[in-house]
Amino acid sequence: MTATDTRIHRRIDVELGDRSYPVHIGSGVRHLLAEKIAEIGAQRVAVVSARPRDTLPETGVPTLYLEARDGEEDKNLATVDRMCRAFAEFGLSRADAIVSVGGGTTTDSVGLAAALYHRGLPVIHLPTTLLAQVDASVGGKTAVNLPQGKNLVGQYWQPSAVLCDTDYLDTLPKREWTNGYGEIARANFIGAGDLRGLPLEEQIAASVARKAEIVAADERDTGLRHILNYGHTLGHALERATDFALRHGEGVAIGTVFAGLLAGALGRIGPERVAEHLEVVRSYDLPYRLPAGAGTAELIALMRLDKKATSGLAFVLDGPLGAELVSGVPESVVAGVLDAMEREH
Ligand code: GLY
Repeated sequence: MTATDTRIHRRIDVELGDRSYPVHIGSGVRHLLAEKIAEIGAQRVAVVSARPRDTLPETGVPTLYLEARDGEEDKNLATVDRMCRAFAEFGLSRADAIVSVGGGTTTDSVGLAAALYHRGLPVIHLPTTLLAQVDASVGGKTAVNLPQGKNLVGQYWQPSAVLCDTDYLDTLPKREWTNGYGEIARANFIGAGDLRGLPLEEQIAASVARKAEIVAADERDTGLRHILNYGHTLGHALERATDFALRHGEGVAIGTVFAGLLAGALGRIGPERVAEHLEVVRSYDLPYRLPAGAGTAELIALMRLDKKATSGLAFVLDGPLGAELVSGVPESVVAGVLDAMEREH
């Protein structure tokens, strides 16, 4: 890419005082990496990448390259341990920086390694999946899984920059697109506006811009940031009920349809807005029916385990004031909505 090309892209700033950072979105923006490393003043970097070496941009400084593998199996403390040992062998110091290249599982685990190594090194994320570009790489949540559950060990560690290069999306398999579009569909209902039909880059930018506002207002997830989990309560339950055969974004898509129906059943929104949920999800060619094997009682039991559900069932629901966390939702209403939803045969 030429210097001229890098100017044709979108830039969103996550405003967090002296920890503010830009998110660049567009074709070829990964080539801003050397400039970003120079801005940080890093002497050397470690690039941890789930993408082939020939797709990686220049860093402009001496670089350690480490291979990563996207996927939940490698998102664990052993991977963080391996990365930190390699950083130490290379002699990575507090004057240096770390770069992650990959999907959300890679940006999450490299982000955690960056937060821990030398008690915190600057990290730049180059997310390469749609899901990671619109959600996972922005906002500073880093974590790995334990056998007892997902994301149980983590840290808030904001990156110094995020480079969402849309060229990386060219080779994504169809289900990875679906995964990312699930999060974009839910962004339609948390204040990002109607994104249907916009060019992809604008949909990513609008989703990131809304997330940036939310993170700036509630970095530590004590209130407003919950709304990013729109559609996720049922989504997570569906992932677990199907033993993760259903991908995250697919679960979120079905969960978004459910959230609309539930908000309607509770009188929070009218029938047109309820219908809009299904329309938006279907416009992205996303699943909207409950999977065949997922029974109402099992889904309710799983939704009771949701971390937002401190008393009874809790959901992020649309309403007169926009999306907000609604606690103590009666089980009978939830069961009625689930029973009325279409199911796969
Ligand atoms: N992915 C939800 C959040 O960043 O809070």
